[in-house]
Amino acid sequence: MKKVLIINGPNLNMLGIREKSIYGADTLDSINAEIKAYGSELNIECDFFQSNCEGEIITKIHSVLAEYDGCIINAGAYTHYSYAIRDAIACVNKPFIEVHMSDVMAREEFRHISVIREVCKDVIAGFGKKSYTMALKAIGELI
Ligand code: DQA
Repeated sequence: MKKVLIINGPNLNMLGIREKSIYGADTLDSINAEIKAYGSELNIECDFFQSNCEGEIITKIHSVLAEYDGCIINAGAYTHYSYAIRDAIACVNKPFIEVHMSDVMAREEFRHISVIREVCKDVIAGFGKKSYTMALKAIGELI
């Protein structure tokens, strides 16, 4: 069975509470349960990791090399400025897909920049929680 890691970065543990008009009312746990169920349909085993700390995210990205076939990452605001996360993804020769729940290109200008885009195979943004399942389908075709 293929194995995919889903990483969520800072403030995504606050889904369900945080800016509901942008991110919806679902909690991260309930979204992860939906991703896991969809993974079973696609024959993909899904593991989940969330951290508000850049270093912890970097260490987890490194683990993809030995333990996973690919990775879906919503790096939250780190997307827009963390060269360290970008370099970590570049260390790992496995497919990564960048995900955002909101349509970052339609929001504030600082969100238009992604420093991880070039090291990811693709970006899926703007579909709410569905962005994750769309990314899972896409990564399933790459691994
Ligand atoms: C986000 C968009 C980012 O700009 C923001 O900092 C987040 C969430 C999204 O999923 O839409 O934390 O990545």
